[in-house]
Amino acid sequence: MDRPEPTADNLVCSAQNESLDQQVEALVKQVNSLETQRDDVVRANINYLRELAQLNRVADMLTQHRSYKQVMGDLLEEVKTLTHAKRIWLIEPNSKSEIRDIYSLDESQPAYESLPLEVQDLAQRVLEVNPDQPLVMPHYDPTKGDEHFVAMSMCSDHYVMGVLCYCLPENTNAVDSQQIRLVQSLLHHTTLACENVRLLETLSNMIVDVVVAMALAIESRDPYTGGHVERVTAYSMMLARHAGLDRSDLATLRIGGLLHDIGKIAVPDAILRKPLPLTKDEFDQMKPHPVVGHQIIAHIPQLAKAAPIVRWHHERIDGKGYPDGLGGDDIPLLSRVAAIADTYDAMTSDRPYRRGLDMNVAREEIHRCAGTQFDPELAEVFLSIPDDELLQTVASASRVRDAKRRMDSVALLDTLDLDFPVNTAGGIR
Ligand SMILES: [Fe+2]
Repeated sequence: MDRPEPTADNLVCSAQNESLDQQVEALVKQVNSLETQRDDVVRANINYLRELAQLNRVADMLTQHRSYKQVMGDLLEEVKTLTHAKRIWLIEPNSKSEIRDIYSLDESQPAYESLPLEVQDLAQRVLEVNPDQPLVMPHYDPTKGDEHFVAMSMCSDHYVMGVLCYCLPENTNAVDSQQIRLVQSLLHHTTLACENVRLLETLSNMIVDVVVAMALAIESRDPYTGGHVERVTAYSMMLARHAGLDRSDLATLRIGGLLHDIGKIAVPDAILRKPLPLTKDEFDQMKPHPVVGHQIIAHIPQLAKAAPIVRWHHERIDGKGYPDGLGGDDIPLLSRVAAIADTYDAMTSDRPYRRGLDMNVAREEIHRCAGTQFDPELAEVFLSIPDDELLQTVASASRVRDAKRRMDSVALLDTLDLDFPVNTAGGIR
């Protein structure tokens, strides 16, 4: 069949169709491109939301911590997860912008040794030039020369708490503004967590100051038992360590040891300061001191964990002790620990009317009274402690006023059980 000759009209129509095809093709390309862009945006938003959710989870976790070391350790781990940084340091400055402390994830060497001088200088630059502005240096690695370096400050409302420095691998985007923003948010939450730690430390220090003042008050009233409360505390903690008790129990024993005789505040001077053995009547006047002490402690909720030590340090395992005549396991474990420590120190200390017993004689007494006066298992543990260690413990048991210096701050916070409102305000900045 012959094809019709092309006419002018046909030629115009064909050209129009071709143009339409091209427009349709261009539109399809545009639609495809928009769909790709939309997918990218959706994917980016989903990732961003995931990261925000992760950030909120981390923020909650950080604000539960009770020490700077815990907070900084988690901060560095999260920065590593978020950025894939190979090396990270958190440099804590003092008020003169000098380095006060350094935290690092590299546990193979001290943080001070892992921090290159160049990083110190760059951190210094952030502190001195513009703490609000992150320092991002693509293709600059202060240690190897082919990576990226980022430094940014961690600021509270009033001062710079630290400078975070990290090195990114070559294949990452060093100037990813979204990532920088997330890390800044993480730092913001970290400042809140640090503020919480600071407030908790201040509060626990205040409580310990009060405990130490109370212990000094007991000591000052009884001239013949100088150092007794500190020695009982030291012996109790030593026995607890040998018995495998945990840090929290040790901290409770420290508070309980310092306060175990606080109830003697109610005992008349004529009895407390008497340079002779007590008569039965005088001893009966001394006996309420655990109850009085317990009443004093019970009114301070933060010291409640130590209250059983105060009340039951004169109980006996056979039920013949005072004030409540508890026996066996009805006597709390830490009270049984303190009972051995208290009696051992009483036996080995000098009194105006007698010399202290030789430590071996005192040990024999502990052995003889195991199962009647003392918890037999704890007595066995006590007797297994070498003489050297007992002597060293009594020698190093310094005065009450030094007690605070040697406190395990984290365990102490557990013992004090501070019901403290955790600061989680702030949100994403
Ligand atoms: Fe006592």
